[in-house]
Amino acid sequence: MDKLVIEGNVPLRGRLRVSGSKNAALPILLACILAEGPVRLRNVPKLKDIATTLQLLRMLGCGAEQNGEIVVTCVGQNLIPEAPYDLVRTMRASVLCLGPLLARLGKAVVALPGGCAIGSRPVDLHLRGLERMGATFELEAGNIIGRCKRLKGAHIHFDFPTVGGTENLLMAASLAEGETILENAAREPEVTNLADFLNACGAKIQGQGTSIIRVQGVDRLNGAEFGVMPDRIEAGTYLVAAVITDGELYLENCSMADLDAVVYKLREMGVWLQEGKSGVLVKRGTNLVGVDVMTQPFPGFPTDMQAQIMALMGLADGSGTIKETIFENRFMHVQELVRMGARIKVSGQNAVVRGVDQYIGAPVMASDLRASASLVLAGLAAKGSTEVLRIYHLDRGYEELEAKLSQVGARIRRVAQ
Ligand code: UD1
Repeated sequence: MDKLVIEGNVPLRGRLRVSGSKNAALPILLACILAEGPVRLRNVPKLKDIATTLQLLRMLGCGAEQNGEIVVTCVGQNLIPEAPYDLVRTMRASVLCLGPLLARLGKAVVALPGGCAIGSRPVDLHLRGLERMGATFELEAGNIIGRCKRLKGAHIHFDFPTVGGTENLLMAASLAEGETILENAAREPEVTNLADFLNACGAKIQGQGTSIIRVQGVDRLNGAEFGVMPDRIEAGTYLVAAVITDGELYLENCSMADLDAVVYKLREMGVWLQEGKSGVLVKRGTNLVGVDVMTQPFPGFPTDMQAQIMALMGLADGSGTIKETIFENRFMHVQELVRMGARIKVSGQNAVVRGVDQYIGAPVMASDLRASASLVLAGLAAKGSTEVLRIYHLDRGYEELEAKLSQVGARIRRVAQ
């Protein structure tokens, strides 16, 4: 298994281009199951999770190639409605084929995803919503078996604004008979990007980006050409990279509007940010100070940036707090940061971070995607050498991480073990 070796304490300077969003591309790729013509997608990042999704699409009987852009063709009579456990267990987002398969074929056999490093992550809200649209489900040998005649529009109120649940229901409702209203829907920009893609294919969706989304079902969806939005979490991670190393970066292909809560907290910490024509310039302004952060559904502070801001806060003056309200087990990076000299105490959902002057390089173990990112950030700032082990998590979510960071001066290399 590869590891990353980082010689830290080097300010990062220059320009970085933010890739297309992984979390937007995954549902959009699975939404292609609904389209009767070929779909051409631009700005899809080259990542392990994308390759896994293309593999899943091929197992479901679709044509799927990545060659600069991605072309997906899902011909009705070739579709096989089965997503096996071997794939679903490597990537939870596979469960997003449930809605499209039910809507297009009236049947779906999808392995139930298990727990993951950051928590139990059930899919009950996805299933309850689809049931309201007329689907029935049984659990057999670890697989969810869903069946339906044509799905019927319904009024669905989510107990929690689940991102994946909203996406599954949006896809299902696009081909359902009649109107579906999703209340307390997720407002994440990736959900909006999916709805915009579905509309480009001929769906009739309104209200995306708000908590009430209305979908008028249509009989068929066509293929389309579509550009995936920039990755706001990758962008946020590189904003922190500039500040934590006391450098200066210009991020291209990055919209501050999608990063409001992160930008707000960074400014509160003393970071200087300026939006340019096609990107954002960032550097440390004054001394950094600790702040209080609570993760929340969009437009609140994203849980996917919690580990990264913690790494930064660990080097701020004074103390700050972080409350994680989305996932129950998302502080796995804390003990690794502590190995590098951070002073962080966790109690339940809360972490108290007391700033230290410097991190000291150490071998550390990555436990999930964003935790890995926080360890890389700490390594970039640390005195001495940091080894980040188990980096396959990073390959799932950050396109060309070492190449991009090296390009702006980081001393980082991948070593095969
Ligand atoms: C997506 C993102 C993930 C991000 C998360 C929260 C993708 C591929 N993943 O994950 O990176 O961290 O949004 O912004 O886009 N829940 C239930 N029942 C359900 C569904 C969710 O109880 O049926 C709970 C979860 O356990 C969790 C919370 O709701 O506590 C949020 O989950 P959700 O918004 O669904 O996240 P994902 O779509 O899995």
